[in-house]
Amino acid sequence: MCAFGKDIGIDLGTASVLIYIKGKGIVLNEPSVVAIDKDTGKLLKVGADAQAMLGRTPGNIVAIRPLREGVISDYDVTERMLKEFIHKVVGFQFFKPRIIICVPSGITEVEERAVIDAGIQAGARRVYLIEEPVAAAIGAGIDITKPDGHFVIDIGGGTADIAVISLSGVVESASIKVAGDQFNEAIIKYMRRKHNLLIGERTAEQMKMEIGCVFPPEEELTMEIKGRCLLTGLPKLISVTSTEMMDAFEEPVERIMEAVHQVLERTPPELVADISTNGIVMTGGGSLVRGFDKLVTARTGIQTVVAENAISCVAEGTGKSLESIGDMKDGTMNLSRRKQIN
Ligand SMILES: Nc1ncnc2c1ncn2[C@@H]1O[C@H](COP(=O)(O)OP(=O)(O)OP(=O)(O)O)[C@@H](O)[C@H]1O
Ligand SMILES: [Mg+2]
Repeated sequence: MCAFGKDIGIDLGTASVLIYIKGKGIVLNEPSVVAIDKDTGKLLKVGADAQAMLGRTPGNIVAIRPLREGVISDYDVTERMLKEFIHKVVGFQFFKPRIIICVPSGITEVEERAVIDAGIQAGARRVYLIEEPVAAAIGAGIDITKPDGHFVIDIGGGTADIAVISLSGVVESASIKVAGDQFNEAIIKYMRRKHNLLIGERTAEQMKMEIGCVFPPEEELTMEIKGRCLLTGLPKLISVTSTEMMDAFEEPVERIMEAVHQVLERTPPELVADISTNGIVMTGGGSLVRGFDKLVTARTGIQTVVAENAISCVAEGTGKSLESIGDMKDGTMNLSRRKQIN
C-alpha cells in the first residue's frame, strides 16, 4: 500500500485505455483517440468525444489513434492522451502516483522505453510494466503463481498475444499484429472484392460485432449494409450474411491459429499436459467474435472458453498486480521477467 497518493494500473490498448485504481476498480474506459487542432497543435478532445470525430473532421482538425498494432506510433500524442486520462481519474494530487502499464509481450526495449517515458511525462512517479497475457491471466481469475501451465490468448485491437504462463512468468509466447483492427480491414477488403462496395471502418466494425463469426454459426444472421458502389459511384444497399463473414475472416483467423499452434509446439510436455487439463482462456475484445472459442477448441482439441470479463480482464489483472508493486523493479523490468530471473 502506498502512503502517498494512489497507485494506478493502466491497460494502454490500441483500441481503448482502461484505468484501474486500487480499492475502486476500473474508473475509466475510453477509446484511444485524440483530436488535435493542426494549426495550433492544441489538444481538443480525448477518448469518446474524439472518437465521434474520427473520419468526420473539418480541415484543421485531425482525430488520431496514437497507438497502432499494440505499440505507440505517435509518442507525443500518446503522452498527452495519458496525461489527460490520468488527470481525469486522480485530479490534482501532491504526490505523483506509481503506475503499472501493461504492454504486449513482443515489444522491443525501445518500445518499452517509450511507454515508460510516456508514463513519466504524463505524471507518474514511477512506471512499472507488466506483459499483457500475464495481466490477462490474472484478470481472468487464474492463479498463475503455481507451477501449473495455463494458456492464454488475448486478442485486442492491434495485437494477439498468445502465452503459456506458469509460476507468474511467461514460458512461451507469441505476439502478432493481427487482431480486431485487421478483422475490420478484412471485412472492408471482402466487401470490395465480393460486392464492389466501398465501406468505412465504422461500418466494418458494426458488421464484425453484429454478424461476424469464425465458426459455422448455429443460426444464419444477415445485415443490410450501406456503402458506395465502386462501379457507379452511387450509394448502394447490400445484404450480407454471417457465413460470408467466415470467408472474410479467413486470413487473420488462420494467422492467429498458426501462432497458437506454434506456441503449443514449443511448450514443454509437462505444461502441455497441464494445459489440456486447465483448458485455454481467451480474453480481449477481439475474442468476442462469434465462435472463436469453438474454433480454438476444434483446432486444438483443448477445451477453450472466453473469459467473462474479456474486455476488462487485462485492466483488472494490471490492477490486481498493484498489490505486488512493492516487489517490482521500476523501469524496464516487468513482473514476469523479474520472476523468471529470480
Ligand atoms: N462484441 C464484440 N465482437 C467483436 N469484436 C469486438 C467486440 N467488442 C469489441 N470488439 C473488438 O475488440 C477490439 C478491442 O479489444 P480490446 O479492448 O481488448 O483491445 P485493446 O486492449 O485496446 O488492444 P491491444 O491489446 O491490441 O492493444 C476492437 O477491435 C473491437 O472492435
Ligand atoms: Mg489489450
